[in-house]
Amino acid sequence: MFYLWMSYLRMTFLLIHLIHYNEAKRRIRWDCFDCQMGPKYGDQMKCTIGGIRRSLLNVELQLLAELNNIKAYVKISTRFKTTNLFRKFFDITFDGCRVIADMVSGTMVSNMFNAVVKSSNQPRKCPVKEGLIYYHNISIEDALPMFVPTAQLFIQVDFYSRRQLYLNVSLLGEIIE
Ligand SMILES: *[C@@H]1O[C@H](CO)[C@@H](O)[C@H](O)[C@H]1NC(C)=O
Ligand SMILES: *[C@@H]1O[C@H](CO)[C@@H](O)[C@H](O)[C@H]1NC(C)=O
Repeated sequence: MFYLWMSYLRMTFLLIHLIHYNEAKRRIRWDCFDCQMGPKYGDQMKCTIGGIRRSLLNVELQLLAELNNIKAYVKISTRFKTTNLFRKFFDITFDGCRVIADMVSGTMVSNMFNAVVKSSNQPRKCPVKEGLIYYHNISIEDALPMFVPTAQLFIQVDFYSRRQLYLNVSLLGEIIE
C-alpha cells in the first residue's frame, strides 16, 4: 500500500514537472521583420514572418557576390513597457565563417545557429558562393534561454564582408510566457 502510494506521488511530481516545463517555454511573436542588402551584394531579398502564431521567419535572397571574411554584429535590446525606450540587453560580434564551419553544439550561439539553418541551404564553409540562399521557418523559441525576460525585443544584425556592411536585419517582436 505504502509502495503504491509512493509511486503515485512520484508520478504526480513527474507530471507537474512536465507541465511546468512546457509552461516555462518562452514564445515569440514577431511584429516587424526588415532586411536590406547592399545592391552590389544581393538582390530580391525577402524577409517575411510566418506561422499561425507569427513565430517563424523566412529569408530569401539572390547573392550576387562571393562572400568571405564574414563578421556579424548582433545587438538585442529590450523594452518592458511601451512608454520606455529600448535598452541594450546584450551585443556580440562573431566571425561568421568560423560559426558556419565549426559549430560546437550545446552552446547558446550554436542552438540559435541550428535553429536558423534547420531548413536552409546555408553553405557550411566560406567563401559563400553566388546564388539563391534561403532560410525557411526559422524558429528560435527552442533556443531561447529561460533567463530572457518577457519583454518587447528589438534585434539588429549587421553583416560585414571585408569591413563593408553588406546586410542589415532588424526585428521587432515580443517574448510571451
Ligand atoms: C543599414 O541600416 C542603416 C540605418 O539603420 C542604413 O543607414 C544603412 O544604409 C543600411 N545599410 C544597408 C546595407 O542596408
Ligand atoms: C514552414 O511552416 C509552414 C507553416 O507552419 C508549413 O506549412 C511549411 O510546410 C513549413 N515549411 C518547411 C520547409 O518546413
